[in-house]
Amino acid sequence: MHTKRITIAIDGFSSCGKSTMAKDLAREIGYIYIDSGAMYRAVTLYCLENGLFRGDEVDTEALRAALPHLDIAFRLNPETGRPQTYLNGRLVENEIRTMAVSSKVSIVAALGFVREAMVGLQQQMGREKGIVMDGRDIGTTVFPDAELKIFVTASPEIRAQRRFDELQAKGETGSFEEILENVKERDRIDTTRDVSPLRKADDAIELDNSHLTIPEQKEWLLAQYRRAAEAE
Ligand code: DC
Repeated sequence: MHTKRITIAIDGFSSCGKSTMAKDLAREIGYIYIDSGAMYRAVTLYCLENGLFRGDEVDTEALRAALPHLDIAFRLNPETGRPQTYLNGRLVENEIRTMAVSSKVSIVAALGFVREAMVGLQQQMGREKGIVMDGRDIGTTVFPDAELKIFVTASPEIRAQRRFDELQAKGETGSFEEILENVKERDRIDTTRDVSPLRKADDAIELDNSHLTIPEQKEWLLAQYRRAAEAE
């Protein structure tokens, strides 16, 4: 019995702890971790910084022209060993997590030409397997042949509380109600958009982690990995 290198797709709603579990798993088993949401966030940051928004509308012509020149990359932070997001060579890990970006990112992620470009980049990153990628359409669109697919859920209230705690720890303000609204609105946009809406792949394993601790979740995920990676 030996272990084969596989592709692991982790999809689910926003703020349900996907990235924590994906990151921990990748570190534990020595795989590359890619946060696909960070890529949509980086494109959104670009739009905000370059005045491409008019209210909730994006100047699609300008974005279409700029997209091929956007360099989105991940590099490991030498101190924490965690991957960080770079946009055109600039570290933007904190900038892409603000409420300003969170409240606009679903609009950008609903644009077909943006998704096409991001999916292309993601598939390239996963060419050699040995990768854990989290997002919304990884098991359905990016890696439909992934050996292990997980679909994570948790109630909107629990997810809003987690994001609230995260923002507070960073010293950002924002009321719980505002965050809960943002979570629900993003769920609505993510599940109803025309291109690659968020849905569970038929062969994905569902995990509701509303009442699981991080160590419990980690154990569960490792067991799933071992099962999927064990070759005859
Ligand atoms: O996981 P996150 O909250 O960082 O994702 C940010 C946004 O990007 C969210 O609105 C959904 C979208 N997204 C997507 O459409 N497809 C992905 N593969 C990842 C994220």
